[in-house]
Amino acid sequence: MLLHNIEELRDQRSEWKNLTVGLVPTMGALHEGHLSLIKKAKETCDKVVVSVFVNPIQFGPSEDFDKYPRTLDKDMELCEKEGVDIVFAPTPETMYGKGNRLSNDTLTYVCPPFFYVNKLCGKTRIGHFDGVCTVVLKLFNIVQPDYAFFGQKDAQQVVIIKKMVNDLNVPVEIVQCPIVREESGLALSSRNKYLSEEGKKDALVLSKILNNIKSCYKHGITDIKALKETAYSFLGDKHELEYLEVLNKNTLEEQVKADDDSIALIACRVEGVRLIDNIYLCE
Ligand code: PAF
Repeated sequence: MLLHNIEELRDQRSEWKNLTVGLVPTMGALHEGHLSLIKKAKETCDKVVVSVFVNPIQFGPSEDFDKYPRTLDKDMELCEKEGVDIVFAPTPETMYGKGNRLSNDTLTYVCPPFFYVNKLCGKTRIGHFDGVCTVVLKLFNIVQPDYAFFGQKDAQQVVIIKKMVNDLNVPVEIVQCPIVREESGLALSSRNKYLSEEGKKDALVLSKILNNIKSCYKHGITDIKALKETAYSFLGDKHELEYLEVLNKNTLEEQVKADDDSIALIACRVEGVRLIDNIYLCE
C-alpha cells in the first residue's frame, strides 16, 4: 500500500496495536542493500513500513539533491515483492509544511553532539547529520515503530542515530544490518548509479584499502598511523581521498592502537562521486 500523507499512515498504524512494527527509512532508489534491511525487518516484525523520502535538509547546497535518483514505481514493485505492508512516500511539504524555509531559523531541528558530527562525513557535509536526525526522529514519531533498520554502510549515521535514541529516550530499537557488496567488493549505494563502468572498477580501491587494513591488523599491526599508511600504495590519480580513519566502532573515539572494537572508515571521490565504505577489523 502506497501512502503519501501522515493521517492515512496514522490511521493504518492504529490498527496494528498489538503487532510489532518495523520501519526501514530510505531515500528510495532501492537496491539489494535496502532489500536486506527489508528482509531483516520482515523476519523481526509483524508489519513493515518502508519510507521513501529524499530529505532536502540533509543535503548541502552544492550536493546532489536535485539529481538524486527518484524511482518510486520501481521501488514500489520491489517492496511489494518483499511483502512490505506500507510504503510511506511523503512530499517535502508534508514533512516540513508549506512555504517554510527549510532551515533551523524557522523549523525545529535535532542537532546531534558536536563530538560525533565533527569528524568523518560530518566534517565536510556541514549540517548533514542535523538533517538526518531531524527526519529520522520525525519518521519515528509518525510511524511509531518498535524496530528501525539501518545499514552499517553509513556507520557514522547509525552511531549518531543510536545516540539520539538513547539521549532523547525514543522508544525504538535500532537494528544495524551488514553492508551488502557486489561480487567485486564494491559496497552497494544509490550513488553507484553515477559511476561509469571504468569508475566502478576504480571505486574498488575503497574496499581493497579496507580489506588490506583488516588483514594487516589480523597479522598483528595495531599502530593506527602504520595501518593508514598502507592505503597509499592503492591510491592513484583517479582517487581523491577525503578521509581514512580507524576509530572505536561504538563511540567513534580516536584510538592510539587498533583493537577488536575498531572500525576503518573511508570516503573517496571517484569520477567526482563521493563514495564511503567501512569495515570492522574484528568480525
Ligand atoms: O540513509 C539514508 O538513506 C538516509 O540518511 C535516511 C536514514 C533515510 C534519512 O533520510
